Amino acid sequence: MQKTWKIQKYTSVTSTNDLAKETAEDNVVIVADMQTAGRGRRANKWISQDGNLFFSQVLTAQTTVSNLAFVSSLSLAEAIYHFDNKIDITIKWPNDILINKRKVAGILIENTPKNKAVIGIGVNLISNPSGDETSYLSANLQAEGLKLSKEQLLETYLKFFDINYADCLRDFGLIRAKWLKFASYINQKIKVKRQDRIDEGIFKGIDEQGLLLLEQKDKITAIAVAEVFF
Ligand code: BTN
Repeated sequence: MQKTWKIQKYTSVTSTNDLAKETAEDNVVIVADMQTAGRGRRANKWISQDGNLFFSQVLTAQTTVSNLAFVSSLSLAEAIYHFDNKIDITIKWPNDILINKRKVAGILIENTPKNKAVIGIGVNLISNPSGDETSYLSANLQAEGLKLSKEQLLETYLKFFDINYADCLRDFGLIRAKWLKFASYINQKIKVKRQDRIDEGIFKGIDEQGLLLLEQKDKITAIAVAEVFF
């Protein structure tokens, strides 16, 4: 079913995820021009530069956080692709958006104490952190030749999200199939970091739960939580 998202705009917040968790009202999208304490995954900070897009959606999710990671990353990749189908846009498992192999957007999904899900998304629209500010290479859409307003991208993302969320509730396999078309490094060598170990192998895609499939010698391991490197 199509959701009606209520968009609430702020000039400056600590983190749109924090405000979304406090508000915790279904179908609200908190958008801010600035974040003073933007957060990333694994306790990293999200460097929030002026002119980029920062927003968080609140919903009572009828699916898992893991499935939402695939729904939201797929929807964002589709939204960007919608504006430029020549762009080399891929998704690094589970939910980093890359352009030409450099990170252009990140997603942080959290639960509220009242069991709602908050999907927080940061997109580098017009600028990105320099190489020494992050442990990965980053990019921005404008420098890649795609000039989009915050409103254009958010509206298009939400349209794709509604379609993909409904598909996910019907059958996660539909999302899996579409997500795999955008997946970075399929059938290529990757490094997978889990706690204190790093494994190298071939990325064989994801299983029916979204677990990463890593092939080493003749064995395939399904991995739930890890960081992927190339
Ligand atoms: C990551 O790749 O580490 C996830 C980054 C998520 C950043 C967004 S920006 C909007 C929302 N508010 C936050 O504090 N974080 C998310």
